[in-house]
Amino acid sequence: MSAPALISFSAITKTYGQGVAAFQALKGVDLAIPSGQFVAIMGPSGSGKSTALNILGCLDGPTGGAYRFRDIAVETLSRNQRALLRRHYLGFVFQGFNLLSRTSAQENVELPLLYRGTEASRRHAAAREALRQVGLDGWEHHTPAELSGGQQQRVAIARAIVTRPLVLLADEPTGNLDSLSAQ
Ligand SMILES: Nc1ncnc2c1ncn2[C@@H]1O[C@H](COP(=O)(O)OP(=O)(O)OP(=O)(O)O)[C@@H](O)[C@H]1O
Ligand SMILES: [Mg+2]
Repeated sequence: MSAPALISFSAITKTYGQGVAAFQALKGVDLAIPSGQFVAIMGPSGSGKSTALNILGCLDGPTGGAYRFRDIAVETLSRNQRALLRRHYLGFVFQGFNLLSRTSAQENVELPLLYRGTEASRRHAAAREALRQVGLDGWEHHTPAELSGGQQQRVAIARAIVTRPLVLLADEPTGNLDSLSAQ
């Protein structure tokens, strides 16, 4: 018997816009990912990878089809319940990083822990450790504008892993990194 899927899509569609301007970015995607798997979604620019990841990350909803996460029918959740699911189970590395610009690397990385209600001393320690893991010890107090593109990307990765999420979703997370840093 195969392991039950942690994540599954059945016939997921996504249409942006309406009427003559409508564009169908996803045309019926089926996907089943068991726990413990490392999966890469590959395809040319504009093929719908970010669209699919945004739905997986509960940042956007599909137009049609069913998304199940740990046997929860995601479309039946309220907005708040989806936010809780995201906060407690998912880490997300955005294609455009989405760092807070006036905020230090350390504080950016602490943010998901702040939302979880983690106390300050544990938050500081966990953020420092996550930054260390991506090779950014010593850069904690720099703001994104003071960091290179690859360093900003590593801050975004540290922010996604600091909670040790059940699922890590990463949208082209190594696009700005040299091959050694990417590894
Ligand atoms: N918010 C939006 N409104 C309208 N169209 C959108 C929107 N987001 C994406 N699209 C369209 O959906 C299609 C898929 O976009 P998506 O960002 O998912 O592609 P991608 O595979 O991630 O591309 P890339 O490799 O360039 O990041 C594109 O044609 C894009 O123009
Ligand atoms: Mg993309």
